[in-house]
Amino acid sequence: MDNLIDGKLIAETLHAETEQEVQALLAKGVLPSVAFVRVGEDPASKVYVGMKEKMAARLGIKSTLHLLPEETTEKALLELLKELNNDASLHGILVQAPLPSHIRQAKVFETVSPLKDVDGFHPVNVGKLMLGDDDGFVPCTPGGIHELLKRCKIETRGAHVVILGRGNIVGKPMASLLIQKAPHANATVTICHSQTRNIGELCRSADILIAALGVPEFVKADMVKPNATVIDVGVNRITDPSSPRGYRLVGDVDFKTVQPVAGRITPNPGGVGPMTIAILMKNTVRAARMATGSVSVSKQDKTH
Ligand code: GUN
Repeated sequence: MDNLIDGKLIAETLHAETEQEVQALLAKGVLPSVAFVRVGEDPASKVYVGMKEKMAARLGIKSTLHLLPEETTEKALLELLKELNNDASLHGILVQAPLPSHIRQAKVFETVSPLKDVDGFHPVNVGKLMLGDDDGFVPCTPGGIHELLKRCKIETRGAHVVILGRGNIVGKPMASLLIQKAPHANATVTICHSQTRNIGELCRSADILIAALGVPEFVKADMVKPNATVIDVGVNRITDPSSPRGYRLVGDVDFKTVQPVAGRITPNPGGVGPMTIAILMKNTVRAARMATGSVSVSKQDKTH
């Protein structure tokens, strides 16, 4: 069945665009540069940061990794971020979540300069997104999904989009993007969460269903309207002694049974994940262009 949304392929198109932007900056003597900060040894975070480093290198973006031990104090982390904010040769800063529980995540995200906030988590960027001001940075995963919908010509105008999950990284910013009075938006958005009643019924009314709740294979075939678009954001580790690593990864969608019902569906892996990294790279290059006056802030490349 070929109703797959090939995130890997679409991400490659974005990478090609980013590479060109990197070349244009290099020609002006600007080396786009991003800092990755990882605190502790969360296994998933190690994998994600490793993938981000690799992609930055491939596209010609300089990346620096700051590895801090689990017991790092909040104060020490904030001090590092202030240093990075003041480093004029550095354009982007990303602090990988989750952070150890003794560190307040909100405090960390608001300490990163909004101009270097390539994750789009700073309250100023969150506010800009909500206000429909496209001068800010859009969080990478919702930005990537938006780009998938756009490039696959999936109509959002007037569509009912149901988002499963109300997190600050995916659910809430995704809703903000799609409710805007703007091209490739104009959707009617419902956010569902653990307290939502009639979740199955709501899902079945979705033209576009975005699963970002972190429950393995939560979305079953009978929750999907025939021909709907299904986007699976979930990355869940399931213990599996028969697998060489002792676990396997599954999404939030029961792919096998949902694929035949869906109009379009993202594979997982190979759907949303590659797009998240592609938007991160795009945001980094944009931060570099903004910082070096290579773009007027209000004339950013519009992603919606
Ligand atoms: N943890 C899960 N997703 C993300 C993301 O997009 N950015 C960061 N910094 N941490 C994450």
